[in-house]
Amino acid sequence: MKILITGGAGYIGSHTLVELCSAGYEFIVYDNLSNSSKEALNRVEKIIGKSVEFVEGDIRDKKLLQEVFANNNIDSVIHFAGLKAVGESVEKPLEYYDNNVNGTVALLEVMKEYNCKKIVFSSSATVYGDPKEVPITEDAQTGIGITNPYGRSKYFIEEILKDLYISDKSWKIAILRYFNPIGAHESGLIGEDPEGIPNNLMPYISQVAVGKLKELQVFGDDYDTVDGTGVRDYIHVVDLANAHVKAVEYLNNLTLNIQNLPLICNLGTGKGYSVLEIVKAFKSASGADVPYKIVARRDGDIAICYANPTKANELLNWKAKRDIEQMCKDSWNWQSKNPRGYNNDIFA
Ligand code: NAD
Ligand code: UD1
Repeated sequence: MKILITGGAGYIGSHTLVELCSAGYEFIVYDNLSNSSKEALNRVEKIIGKSVEFVEGDIRDKKLLQEVFANNNIDSVIHFAGLKAVGESVEKPLEYYDNNVNGTVALLEVMKEYNCKKIVFSSSATVYGDPKEVPITEDAQTGIGITNPYGRSKYFIEEILKDLYISDKSWKIAILRYFNPIGAHESGLIGEDPEGIPNNLMPYISQVAVGKLKELQVFGDDYDTVDGTGVRDYIHVVDLANAHVKAVEYLNNLTLNIQNLPLICNLGTGKGYSVLEIVKAFKSASGADVPYKIVARRDGDIAICYANPTKANELLNWKAKRDIEQMCKDSWNWQSKNPRGYNNDIFA
């Protein structure tokens, strides 16, 4: 029995491979490498001490997916594959809907054909739009106030998965809504390797600290928050990866307890930190300087977003363990050992 990991060469996928391996699961990675490199999988092999089965392919390629299902005993799927750059999704909405929504539909069709009906899906806190209340619980409204096609593609896929379950109750579906994943594996071998200038806060800070970028631009200091800068729920990527192992276990152990299906869980720590708090924590964890300047708010940003993670604590028996110091320390460890990301040969 194997788990198919779509998007397994990416940031969260690669960390999840390590945790799945230590929990004793077998898996096969399916990725088109559109936002990742084979080197990430080489590094995973170094960490886990064995080879990773890999198929280079697109989730929209049903023929290739059918081949993979026909040749492997695939019992479940963890579906990370997707495009995720918010700004780019505004420029190229059709590409995002095709890749994320059509890609997911193609994957589900092939799963159905091979009677594989267990799936864990990577969703995002972005489906809550601008939340009315924090901390956010899973029953908060979704789909309203989402500011970009990326976010809407996640919302649409959630709705498709719910409809699929309504049509056939033998599907076992987990929808995981990630808050803000940061950090890296403690080895410094794998981490987040964004292409070009990073959009997200932590990779930007790390690249300023390592000298690749001049200074951080803090997007607005006039929000109604502790110091006026945006507040988010940052979660260590290894904690997030562990939640996937727990979600697979949950779906495997379901008997007739269908009340919680599709399972929908927030994955966050439950704590919010402002941009300036993150800068301070990063400086203290790394010893590096992070010059910054305050600039205008970024379009589409919200003031505060953090999770109520109680449901995942209770149903998945999962809790984020690593604190903000650890997240900053591990982000820095990865960035300082790999200033050019995976285009780096110090581990060769
Ligand atoms: P990532 O870009 O590092 O990983 C996604 C992987 O999917 C990449 O390796 C990419 O090559 C692959 N991929 C993309 N389209 C594909 C396709 N059509 N066929 C096959 N492979 C394809 O991103 P990540 O940060 O690891 O995110 C993983 C998932 O989690 C994504 O679906 C993302 O939207 C979601 N998510 C991420 C965050 C975050 O902050 N990183 C937050 C919420 C949700
Ligand atoms: C962004 C996406 C969201 C996605 C999430 C995780 C937008 C509008 N939203 O959310 O859809 O799910 O990433 O991938 O892009 N900040 C700065 N300077 C920077 C970068 C960020 O001040 O250079 C601030 C932001 O204003 C925000 C915080 O840092 O307050 C976190 O930003 P970011 O890492 O981009 O995540 P989100 O905005 O939460």
